[in-house]
Amino acid sequence: MPVISAPADFHVDDLYVDLRPILDTPLYLKCEGFNFAGSIKLKAAAAMVDDAERRGELTADSIIVESSSGNLGVALSMIAADRGYRFLCVTDTRCNLATRRLMEALGAQVHIITEPDPENGFLGARLDHVRHLCASDDRHVWLDQHANPHNWMAHYRTTAPAIAEHFPDLDVLFVGAGTTGTLMGCARYFKERRRPVTVVAVDSVGSVTFGGPSGPRMIPGLGTGVRPKLLDESFVDDVVHVPEAEAIRVAHRLAAGGFLFGGSTGTVVSGAMGWLAGGGKGGRGTAVAISPDLGERYLDSVYQTNWVSDIYGAHVLEHDSIRTR
Ligand SMILES: Cc1ncc(COP(=O)(O)O)c(C=O)c1O
Repeated sequence: MPVISAPADFHVDDLYVDLRPILDTPLYLKCEGFNFAGSIKLKAAAAMVDDAERRGELTADSIIVESSSGNLGVALSMIAADRGYRFLCVTDTRCNLATRRLMEALGAQVHIITEPDPENGFLGARLDHVRHLCASDDRHVWLDQHANPHNWMAHYRTTAPAIAEHFPDLDVLFVGAGTTGTLMGCARYFKERRRPVTVVAVDSVGSVTFGGPSGPRMIPGLGTGVRPKLLDESFVDDVVHVPEAEAIRVAHRLAAGGFLFGGSTGTVVSGAMGWLAGGGKGGRGTAVAISPDLGERYLDSVYQTNWVSDIYGAHVLEHDSIRTR
């Protein structure tokens, strides 16, 4: 029976959903949404704050500042509340209202960027705002998840070994790419140990991470308008790009089976299904995908019919698209 006094001390790291009965795909989905921050970003947040504390960067009057599409912001809000720091999250208009409210409920201040940078999109504009804050007040401490090695090291130390332990015969691992912290931590772990695991990155169409053309994206967490500094493609075996409409369909198919996951889980699972169906290891062997969070934060977007129809068209949620068992 775990008994905790710090909210970051609890995280379920050993829960997998067998997707065969729902999607007829031989894929295990590692669930990372069961902790008090509700997402995988708890691991990166805790590792980056721990490191800043070790290096003496955080003092009683520090204000932690970070650019986040939402989930890292919630995790940092929680940790800052627990450890007595102030926290300011810089996000943009695509951040869910529920996520913003969560941060505020935990005592954080939230700045919403409303105009994307003409060249580097919303992320570029968010990063400019963070730089401006840091230049204007030296109490601000920027953890910089996009460049901070403790982001990927958190997954190297926890996520990857947990998967390796439960699936010693793992053949292929599908990881969504945002900052690429999860991807790089897992890929480095398996490659450095020379495990014969194919690491497949899953990205959104419209993301520039792997060199594709920039385009509009509405599902938070995955994809970027600025190439991630953490990314080293030499550790990645393959890349799949998923249109957001497909990700929405798959998220709804999972929900129709009783599993309400976040939008980026729809992207990762959709990418994995396409890759497995298209040859690759041909459905043989053991495949695992990582689900970053659960669906409640997306009730007003991914799971809201009008939102989906307005952005992607009404056909996306037509009955045939959301085939259930
Ligand atoms: C919902 C969601 N999915 C995926 C990711 C991507 O994770 P990473 O930044 O480790 O690439 C994030 C990161 O913020 C996220 O919030």
